[in-house]
Amino acid sequence: MNAASQTVIEISKVSTRFGDHVVHTGLDLEVRSGEIFALIGGSGSGKSTLLREMILLQRPDAGSIRVLGVDLHEIADDAALALRQRWGVMFQHGGLFGSLTVKENVGLPLREHTGLDDVLIDEIAAWKLAMTGLQPEVGAQYPSELSGGMMKRASLARALALDPELLFLDEPTAGLDPDSAGEVDQLVRRLRELFGLTIVMITHDLDLLWQLADRVAVLAEGKVQGVGSMTELSQMDNPAIRKFFDGPRGRAAQEQERKQEQQQTQVPTSEATGRPSSKPK
Ligand SMILES: Nc1ncnc2c1ncn2[C@@H]1O[C@H](COP(=O)(O)OP(=O)(O)O)[C@@H](O)[C@H]1O
Ligand SMILES: [Mg+2]
Repeated sequence: MNAASQTVIEISKVSTRFGDHVVHTGLDLEVRSGEIFALIGGSGSGKSTLLREMILLQRPDAGSIRVLGVDLHEIADDAALALRQRWGVMFQHGGLFGSLTVKENVGLPLREHTGLDDVLIDEIAAWKLAMTGLQPEVGAQYPSELSGGMMKRASLARALALDPELLFLDEPTAGLDPDSAGEVDQLVRRLRELFGLTIVMITHDLDLLWQLADRVAVLAEGKVQGVGSMTELSQMDNPAIRKFFDGPRGRAAQEQERKQEQQQTQVPTSEATGRPSSKPK
């Protein structure tokens, strides 16, 4: 864990507005190497916007963002191109191109950023699909033919195409049935274990938050209201954080905490999530 203290993302005093609508007001955030970091907050609190700012799809109006040691402010085109190859992104709605097969989608970053020939790109794409638990024949299918869970996996395979150091996930389990969500949960866990990836995810999924996230940041009123493990957050007094634990979803959250405590004393993780663990290899 010697790399754990290294900062991979450093966000300082970021402000963002759309016209008169203020989204971030001097927001600070830090993500450390090798951690699974979750961003939570109400709908419209600016989570996706912040993520887009971290991946150079949008610029804040003020403040600074450093990712993997690079300042994103006025970054030159060639530096931006190099940086984009060091992270992978799984967008909320998959973001796969409907006119390309799954394998072509996964191979796209390789085609764009490497000089590898088609045969090799195909092989790497097939291997990334296998890594996310998809059957080889899925590679020949089109996104519209996939179930929600398969779509998330394919999108994850594409995010992993260039062997990123950093992975961004926007709502990786949203819209999935509990079984598929549990499989994505296991998959993310394995990716971190196998590759030591740093993972930043936006999620409402209490299982992901309690079982997977090392640290969680609560976004509200333009700022990060608190950062910590779910257990730490659950003990904070800040009203914006309390809302998450005491609201209608609070009971579920506390249920999770109880499960977590039980798990620490007795059962393996997959049992504790109440979800089926993925098939043993
Ligand atoms: N491109 C945009 N133009 C205008 N308003 C936007 C744009 N993107 C996001 N917003 C607004 O900014 C706020 C934050 O959006 P978003 O970051 O998507 O929230 P979250 O992901 O937390 O639900 C919302 O009120 C949204 O309507
Ligand atoms: Mg969003």
